[in-house]
Amino acid sequence: MIIYKSEEEIKGIKRSNQIVAKILDELSSMIKPGVQTKDLDEHAEKRARDMGAVPAFKGYRGYPSSLCTSINEEIVHGLPSSRTLREGDIISLDFGILCDGFYGDAAETYPVGNISPIAKKLITAAENAFYKGIEKIREGNRISDISNAIQTYVEAQGFSIIRSFVGHGIGLSLHEEPQVPNFGLSGRGPKIRKGLVLAIEPMIAVGDWRMEVLADKWTAVTIDRSLSAHYEHTVALTERGLEILSVLDDKEPNFQYLKRNQHA
Ligand code: MF3
Ligand code: CO
Repeated sequence: MIIYKSEEEIKGIKRSNQIVAKILDELSSMIKPGVQTKDLDEHAEKRARDMGAVPAFKGYRGYPSSLCTSINEEIVHGLPSSRTLREGDIISLDFGILCDGFYGDAAETYPVGNISPIAKKLITAAENAFYKGIEKIREGNRISDISNAIQTYVEAQGFSIIRSFVGHGIGLSLHEEPQVPNFGLSGRGPKIRKGLVLAIEPMIAVGDWRMEVLADKWTAVTIDRSLSAHYEHTVALTERGLEILSVLDDKEPNFQYLKRNQHA
């Protein structure tokens, strides 16, 4: 069952997502060669607790950390450790919190120093894929219109869509219905209406779309070890139209969104 949210609830979900956005912003400025991924995890957890929030991933199905740190061929659920970042790596940070009963969830992929042209193109494609997807979040459209737009764009860029992970409803739980695959035919699934809150999260790869999970039982990697990028934000269809809840307000998310659409 899809839980459609009131404007009041969306305000609460936005507050939680602004905490996620603030912390991801802080983490992004910590990313440099030599940093250990566990330093990023510690910072994320401490700052969440400082702001009155609880990390949402820690303990979720036994996940041991607060942050997911996925480097290069790692798709998602990379475990923070004493591993250090190296010049030329790309790292996806995925973070979620619970605050005052509402969940926030977002992820971005960042360069470590100078990265290869293909890595840059991959990161940009994941971000653009998210925007291609959310353009379809309009009353009357269907959930799989989002999926199809993401797949069509990513494959036209020459990249592949990871199929084992999906976007999801979010708000009162971390994962709610509906599931939002990043691939598939359009025109399927529930009709979109006001009050829908979704975490849209394309994960893409340079090579094969198939994945496997490492012996640590968490880290998902591409089966051919090609680079992978992840881009996730929580969005809501409100009275005022589509809002991106997990981009910092002072970054004028809706302005960015409109700007992108004009050039689409
Ligand atoms: N952002 C991932 C998701 O949306 C979070 C992984 S949850 C974990 O599903 F706790 F299992 F890591
Ligand atoms: Co998510």
